[in-house]
Amino acid sequence: MPSYLLPEQPIGSVDEYFATDIGGLGLKRAAELGPDATIAEVLRSGLRGRGGGGFPTGRKWQTVRDQGGTHRYVVANGAEGEPGTFKDRALMRANPYQVVEGVIIAAFAVDAREAFICLKASFEPELEAVTRAVTELQQAGVCRDCEITIVRGPDEYLYGEEKAMLEVVEGKAPLPGLFPPYEHGLFATAPQTGWQAMENEPGHVGRHESNPTLVNNVETLSNVPHILARGADWFRSMGTEQSPGNVVCTVVGDVVAPDVGEVELGTPLGDVISAVGSGLGAARTVKAVFSGVANPVVPGRSLDVPLSYEGLQSVGSGMGAAGFIVYDDTACMVEVARQFSRFLWVESCGQCPPCKLGSGEITARLDRVEAGTANTDDLAEIAGWLDKVTDGNRCYLAVEERLVVGSILGAFAGEVVEHVESGGCPRRRPLPFPKLVDLRDGRATYDETVYRKQPDWTYADPG
Ligand SMILES: Cc1cc2nc3c(=O)[nH]c(=O)nc-3n(C[C@H](O)[C@H](O)[C@H](O)COP(=O)(O)O)c2cc1C
Ligand code: SF4
Repeated sequence: MPSYLLPEQPIGSVDEYFATDIGGLGLKRAAELGPDATIAEVLRSGLRGRGGGGFPTGRKWQTVRDQGGTHRYVVANGAEGEPGTFKDRALMRANPYQVVEGVIIAAFAVDAREAFICLKASFEPELEAVTRAVTELQQAGVCRDCEITIVRGPDEYLYGEEKAMLEVVEGKAPLPGLFPPYEHGLFATAPQTGWQAMENEPGHVGRHESNPTLVNNVETLSNVPHILARGADWFRSMGTEQSPGNVVCTVVGDVVAPDVGEVELGTPLGDVISAVGSGLGAARTVKAVFSGVANPVVPGRSLDVPLSYEGLQSVGSGMGAAGFIVYDDTACMVEVARQFSRFLWVESCGQCPPCKLGSGEITARLDRVEAGTANTDDLAEIAGWLDKVTDGNRCYLAVEERLVVGSILGAFAGEVVEHVESGGCPRRRPLPFPKLVDLRDGRATYDETVYRKQPDWTYADPG
């Protein structure tokens, strides 16, 4: 498969980057085109956001530029907290220069005064790589016009949510605000609703400013220099009509060698599991695949589905961040639902009561189903909470709870009944929760602290 995002060897210096066939050329082309034609080229390429939502990147850029105002910002989302996903860290390790060049092009296109690249403080190799890339590109005179700040954020899942990320850049906790960043951006002085807390920043001309802010995933931004340097037609020569280009996937779980790999969009999901994760062990079959904990289950019978936004949608799921968690025929799907629900409950911030309360109530009942102490009332109550959990939600986390848990209980209803009737789990086996802290040489290291994290975001003592 042709690969352009992940080089065979990591790019270790700006000179090595400039020696590649695109290094610096995307920005040069953008400067020749000017901001409007740069946005038009990204729009024409059909690039869609790789952070989970798949929103057309050119449209987002145009919206931010069209919002007006005196202050605009760019935020690169490198928080990568989705379970089963490591592709952003792999990209930042392998070629941090293309990420930073993508940030500079985006800032030029939307006329941003400043950009922030947001990583978790715990992502040490990636922080080193991105800091090196920013410094060397600055020294090479490439990003003189745009100030870039690297933000070291907390480990919370919500830090990756774009509205919460803006809060962290402003020095606050990762609690999603009400309005999207393109409407209510960084350091905005316009009130979200009603009462206004902040003084205007120096430089504002109006009474209040909303500071439209562009938030893009680091893989999305990594595609940008390639699109500008080689053109939208080149990008559209790969992938499908609605999902052009390549995507960097993670494959973990019950596979022989978990890994990250770049594949052309439209490749059948089963082939991706074989090519990136080296397939399953002898005599094992795929029972279920999940794209993170954010999308409904893809059952094992649907492995010929093309890996594309429209393909995964056609089987009732979604592309998410292309981090695939594979479970084989020995896995207990009630335990999977319980783990996913617990993760979302713990990570929910509690600003919207039905989200925190509902995901907690669902998790408590799934604990009982898995332990064999549930009754049919518990099942009805889970269904009731799944209906209400998204009421008044500020962010998509509550929707994830509904979609992922609802889909598992629907697709594997027989296993749920089996647990209730037989008084326990008939498929007990270790099922590690796949939140990745490292992934290299076919070995995944999962975050052991997830089991100790409590719903108030503190950690229980080990042992
Ligand atoms: C709970 C939650 C966690 C998220 N975590 C991430 C993340 O770690 N990285 C990311 O790029 N997007 C994440 N997103 C999606 C972002 O909110 C946002 O849609 C994305 O960064 C936009 O970039 P894109 O248009 O380039 O995809 C998350 C969303 C939610 C609801
Ligand atoms: S939906 Fe849940 S996670 Fe999102 S802001 Fe509301 S309580 Fe927090």
